[in-house]
Amino acid sequence: MQPSEKYLFKYKGFSFQPDLVTVEVLDSLEDFEIRDSDVFLVTYPKSGTIWTQNILSLICHEGHRDGTENIDLLDRVPWVEYNIRNMDYISRVSPRLFASHLPYYLVPKGLRNGRTKVIYVSRNPKDVLVSYYHFAKFSTKVEEVEDFGIFMERFISGNVLASLWLDHIEGWYAHRDDFNILFLTYEEMKKDLRSTVLKICNFLGKRLTEKEVDTVVNKATFDKMKLDQRANYEFMPSDILDHSKGTFLRKGTIGDWKNIMTVAQNERFDSVFKERMEKLPIKFCWDISDEL
Ligand code: A3P
Repeated sequence: MQPSEKYLFKYKGFSFQPDLVTVEVLDSLEDFEIRDSDVFLVTYPKSGTIWTQNILSLICHEGHRDGTENIDLLDRVPWVEYNIRNMDYISRVSPRLFASHLPYYLVPKGLRNGRTKVIYVSRNPKDVLVSYYHFAKFSTKVEEVEDFGIFMERFISGNVLASLWLDHIEGWYAHRDDFNILFLTYEEMKKDLRSTVLKICNFLGKRLTEKEVDTVVNKATFDKMKLDQRANYEFMPSDILDHSKGTFLRKGTIGDWKNIMTVAQNERFDSVFKERMEKLPIKFCWDISDEL
């Protein structure tokens, strides 16, 4: 069963959501004007994007931390390639925070100025796959595939939105010297959120008091975010997310892949991914009890 063109639009070798983007917008990205103070969060889908968007917003916006401003994540950390709210990015006040799933070769060329900060968050690909499979039932913009085995085949051949996970992560690691980039993993965030928040603060040059860090950590936990309407994408229109079918914050753990992948599927996955993954300068964590 081949993926439907209704859900995948290929542009320069990378798959986008056709309803949410145009060729003109994608063509214009290369020259998108970058500021030194901008912060770009880059991820492959289902790797902890919304989580890091929330953390960045909490770190950078006092009004978010203290609850005095009622602004949702999509306005705080909008998507570069999917400008869902038709925001005027030029008039945004600095520091502008952006999220993106773009591969290294499609980001605005100004990002290679060596000053603008990029944060790349990765997650072990089996949990990414499982999260993606469930997300496809809930998002009207991702093709739902009932059979997990078929979805997995699409994932390992890159026939999904954002194309092949391996290409994405390999590309960003291989070109890391072109960017001012901090690499983080979902698993380190899960295991020690406070240290990750401090790492991000340090990278951004943002000094927060102990109490402010506590607030960020507290508001970025899975349970708090799941209930936080500004953070949990409940505000996304139902023509993008069908809220009767799921929640964006689903399980939020490490190792959920073990609950769905069969031994044969796991072996098949490893046979396709393992060799290339071993060459990546990153140690993957596959279970909540694994050491980092
Ligand atoms: P699961 O589907 O495994 O639960 P993205 O934002 O890149 O699409 O990633 C979504 C995944 O991140 C979902 O994974 C979601 O539950 C998880 N997530 C979001 N916020 C989280 C948090 N505060 N703690 C742990 N996981 C979180």
